[in-house]
Amino acid sequence: MTTQREQKNHIAIDPDRLWADLQDVGKIGYREGFGISRPALSDADIAAKEWLMERLQAAGLEVCMDAATNVIGTLRTRRKRPVRVLVIGSHLDTVPQGGMFDGALGVVAGLECARVIRENGIELPWDLEIINFSDEEAAHNAGTVGSRAMLGQLQPEEIFVSKGKDISSFADEMKRMGRDPHQVHDAVRDPKIFKAMLELHIEQGNHLESEGIRIGVVTGIVGIYRYIITVKGESNHAGTTPMHLRNDALVKAAPLFTLLPQWVRARNKEMVGTIGQVTVAPGATNVIPGECTFVVELRSMNASDMVAVRGLLEEWVLAQSDAAIQTIYEKDSVALAEPLIETIARAAKIEGLSAIRMPSGAGHDTQSFAAYVPSGIIFIPCLRGKSHCPEESIEPQQAVDGCRVLLKTVLALAEQHTEGG
Ligand code: GLV
Ligand code: MN
Ligand code: MN
Repeated sequence: MTTQREQKNHIAIDPDRLWADLQDVGKIGYREGFGISRPALSDADIAAKEWLMERLQAAGLEVCMDAATNVIGTLRTRRKRPVRVLVIGSHLDTVPQGGMFDGALGVVAGLECARVIRENGIELPWDLEIINFSDEEAAHNAGTVGSRAMLGQLQPEEIFVSKGKDISSFADEMKRMGRDPHQVHDAVRDPKIFKAMLELHIEQGNHLESEGIRIGVVTGIVGIYRYIITVKGESNHAGTTPMHLRNDALVKAAPLFTLLPQWVRARNKEMVGTIGQVTVAPGATNVIPGECTFVVELRSMNASDMVAVRGLLEEWVLAQSDAAIQTIYEKDSVALAEPLIETIARAAKIEGLSAIRMPSGAGHDTQSFAAYVPSGIIFIPCLRGKSHCPEESIEPQQAVDGCRVLLKTVLALAEQHTEGG
């Protein structure tokens, strides 16, 4: 008779099933030449949620959608209740014209892990939840909405205010789904119930690829600050208003577009600053812009550098004749749990995969958990480090590497639990 430990050493994921699932969900929201667009709670995102619910059900998990529209599949332990919960989570929403693997990899790999654990009759000491967190990608500009809702981190009223471009609020989208946004706080759970949170993700940078390393063990996640700046001018006829009489909002805003990179580069090498969204109103070829609105995003591991650049932004805004700055959110960097980093690094070693420790410059749902729950992220390389674009690509073997390390980490945590760790 084989013991649970021997059995655990032999269970293996199914590479073909993992890849087929990634391809399958990758068809949802795909348009030739434009990549995948599944902004949170769009028709495509809802279809992806339905796809996942079906797959989780077919895998024998209990499935629900919580009050924040997170999809949760639960593989229950037979242990006596109350039990804790191990989460494997990521997201199925994408940026506009995004790729196939950012987020989807972590959800599909979680599904595959749950399937093989169940198929092999492995008894875990906690419930295992596979979670597709809603609106990780900031379709409404704040991002990580589902995971923050679960950890009680949503700002009051935030889901009722749309800060996205040409998009209604998260609350309006919930209503469109027949759900009550006023109930969103029912999604809050006590962080103490969570044993750990694990996420498998593509690196979204080219460090692993350029070094020829197969696994990144993430040590911390970058802080993200986002602001909306509005500069007002005066709309007028573009043909009849002489240049010296114009009050053009875009021209007033433009110096900041080149000042921001200078300020950021002067602070530290790892800090980044982006203006990725600019709108002019009314937005017509023959009208002088009366208003220019843009989103400034700052990222760094170092909060004091971000506060300093925020100060420069505020000064710039004050110096304008008619401008305002509004905070979308400010999330400081987090360190991930050292014991979990060790466990993941060991799992990679057992699987015979080279690994390094590294920080993440991208945001993740794990960030919402990390302050309260031991949290870990596993990275695999992606082609030329490209992500948030249709060219985002990985090899099937890289998905398999990551999923194997994820599974091994879950089994190692179960082993530690049995041994009283
Ligand atoms: C999510 O991918 C982010 O880093 O914005
Ligand atoms: Mn992303
Ligand atoms: Mn992601």
